[in-house]
Amino acid sequence: MNSTYEAPRRLIKTPDEIEKMRVAGRLAAEVLDMIKPHVKAGVSTLELDTICHDYIVNVQNAIPACLGYGAAPGRPAFQHVICTSVNHVVCHGIPSESKILKNGDILNIDVTVIKDGYHGDTNMMYIVGEGSVLANRICHVAQEAMYRGIETVKPGSTIGDIGYAIQKYVESERFSVVREYCGHGIGTVFHDEPQVLHYGQPNTGMVLEEGMTFTIEPMVNAGVWQTRLMGDKWTVVTKDHKLSAQYEHTLLVTKDGVEILTPRPDEDLSRFKK
Ligand code: MF3
Ligand code: CO
Ligand code: CO
Repeated sequence: MNSTYEAPRRLIKTPDEIEKMRVAGRLAAEVLDMIKPHVKAGVSTLELDTICHDYIVNVQNAIPACLGYGAAPGRPAFQHVICTSVNHVVCHGIPSESKILKNGDILNIDVTVIKDGYHGDTNMMYIVGEGSVLANRICHVAQEAMYRGIETVKPGSTIGDIGYAIQKYVESERFSVVREYCGHGIGTVFHDEPQVLHYGQPNTGMVLEEGMTFTIEPMVNAGVWQTRLMGDKWTVVTKDHKLSAQYEHTLLVTKDGVEILTPRPDEDLSRFKK
């Protein structure tokens, strides 16, 4: 059964709030751009975390949202400012002194900053040195999957339209879409409604309206979509230990389409220009 539902009014941002979301989004994207030259063989993921921490706190005068976030019964709070997810790690990889990047690794860095009370959340893949054909392809497909989802965003379309576009594309490339983790509404709250599933059916779920802000962040697996949570209660890995890749943007629903709030200079975003 196809059904849709209206967004609660509090999810619609005012022009003032939207301007603050633009600032937070720009800062988050700048972290991913800043760290790029540091991602190379021999560096540890903890060293990358330290560089991002100092940049966010001392240069951007912003707050790293992940630091101290997410304590739950049986799970400690996250103790770092970025998630570093290498190869078969799907998401929420914990930066570590002992995780040294090597040639051919694929790394996702996910960063969220708070500026003036508002969150900007974004992630991207980095290929260390020369990646395999599969490594390059899965990173490309994850980014394109995110863009296919973003392309559906406009007032009157639905959350289900996003998931459908992503799943259809990823499966046509003979990869799979992770089910257990999803995008999310974002603003003064880090993880708000709606849940943005990266799979699903057209014309289902919440109807999008001008002024809504949320992330799209598909995780794409080379093998099965199933994942496993490690004993540290954060690190998520693919069940079959095959590669996984992810991209994330924070988005605004505009009058006639979408604005990407976390754009980077390395992206060609001409297809989203109205
Ligand atoms: N940035 C992640 C997301 O995209 C959340 C990370 S929570 C953390 O929603 F605590 F692991 F950092
Ligand atoms: Co997110
Ligand atoms: Co994120």
